[in-house]
Amino acid sequence: MVREILVWPHPVLKQSAKPVAHVDDSVRQLIQDMFDSMYAADGVGLAAPQIGELKNVIVLDTSPRQEGAKALAMVNPQIVKLEGATTYKEGCLSIPGEAEDVDRAAVVTVRFLDKDGAQQELTAEGLLAIAIQHETDHLKGTVFVDHISSLKRELIRKRMKKVQAFRAEKKAEDEAPKKKAASR
Ligand code: NI
Repeated sequence: MVREILVWPHPVLKQSAKPVAHVDDSVRQLIQDMFDSMYAADGVGLAAPQIGELKNVIVLDTSPRQEGAKALAMVNPQIVKLEGATTYKEGCLSIPGEAEDVDRAAVVTVRFLDKDGAQQELTAEGLLAIAIQHETDHLKGTVFVDHISSLKRELIRKRMKKVQAFRAEKKAEDEAPKKKAASR
């Protein structure tokens, strides 16, 4: 099911997510909802807090922009090694329409549980390495604009307040006819 993606600076996006104790059907359902929401928004990564769930779960699919990549779901991801350095113009589904250069490690090794609860380890480079760092940041309540200058961040904050207001207005309009129908 496609879920609503929260827009920064929503307070949930500043909170730390919690480890998942057991990878059960509810976690697998969350993973499915995250993939549905990410693909619907044309994203290459999504973290559970972005749909309001403070759980250590991320999904990634960089295949539209990276040859050989595939869809990945990671429960309780832990970055165990960072190597090299790179800069990439990052965006975020919670910060629509914005992109800024962020400095990251070039190669990342991550340990995680897959959707069956099995321990996995993966070393990634290119866009996937950046996406893993970006999405695991979300689990700590950090977004990419926390890595840029405060001047740029405050300008983006102003634009996002407008996006939030516009979406709230649209939601109210969409719900108005439903309420009318229900009261009949
Ligand atoms: Ni993001």
